[in-house]
Amino acid sequence: MAKVVIGARLPGRIDQILAGHEIVRPAEPEAELPRARLTEALRDAEGLLTLLKVRIDDALLDGAPRLRVVANYAVGYDNVDLAATARRGIVVTNTPDVLTDATADLTMTLMLAAARRLPEGGAMLREGRWRGWEPEQLPAMDLGGAQLGIVGLGRIGQAVARRARGFGMRVVYTQRSAATAEVEAATGARRVALDELVATSDVVTLHAPATAETRHLMDAARIAQMKPRAVLVNTARGALVDEAALAAALDRGHLLGVGLDVFEDEPRVHPALAASPRAVLMPHLGSSTVGTRTAMAELAAQSIADVLAGRRPANVVSAPGSH
Ligand code: DGY
Repeated sequence: MAKVVIGARLPGRIDQILAGHEIVRPAEPEAELPRARLTEALRDAEGLLTLLKVRIDDALLDGAPRLRVVANYAVGYDNVDLAATARRGIVVTNTPDVLTDATADLTMTLMLAAARRLPEGGAMLREGRWRGWEPEQLPAMDLGGAQLGIVGLGRIGQAVARRARGFGMRVVYTQRSAATAEVEAATGARRVALDELVATSDVVTLHAPATAETRHLMDAARIAQMKPRAVLVNTARGALVDEAALAAALDRGHLLGVGLDVFEDEPRVHPALAASPRAVLMPHLGSSTVGTRTAMAELAAQSIADVLAGRRPANVVSAPGSH
């Protein structure tokens, strides 16, 4: 019987999937395992199911000498130091696929809300500034015929492209290597260079992982390249955008709006973004539907069960020998 640490209260059939193992988890009413208990439990644990906000690095792993698998409860795994896990022969897994549709749906939600100026209209109404129907009230973006620029045509980027076509948008994308002909045909997306995408798109949406290369991909210069009255959407990772530069561009009136689900220093939000009537903000909820969060929990638990049983899980990010 191996010890498995579950870092947070999670939905789904975790106990059945990990039957036969000792599970350490938060005690009611705790939502998450406090750091001291996590550290204590990791001393002899073989599996860890962790949240994306916990940094998995040498400092944590030095205290977990028996750990064999880290299952990250997210598709993104920038919180995991893969060199540190690889040095110790630890398998790392993530939760792809099950969250694709939910995240693409929230991307569309943010795009629509920013392009149609939802926060400004809502505030006008609630604050008693609405004087009735007017022909030129809060003119918004016509999405039909507009160009959507997708940075990263992976699973989520593709799901966004398919949705955008339903709105009559033209779709371009950028990524290091071209998508397959099948993917381009299914999404109707045309590959262009990043600079062209940024300079010609009416809406730019980010679907790339946070790495040293993508940090501040949207910096002041790139944001300035965006078309006047364009919209930027980010449901990937906050590190991709220089928030101070973005807030300044909003203040100058260069952008029509932004839709952000992720932030550079979560849970902190740049005060100028929080104050901007043109920013549609959500607290990192891209995958937060009942079905998706349940599926993520079960997938993560299954990958731990697989490793502990000597099987290779389907969703391996890094395994001994792969680095
Ligand atoms: C992820 O999976 O990486 C999201 O940010 C959280 O669901």
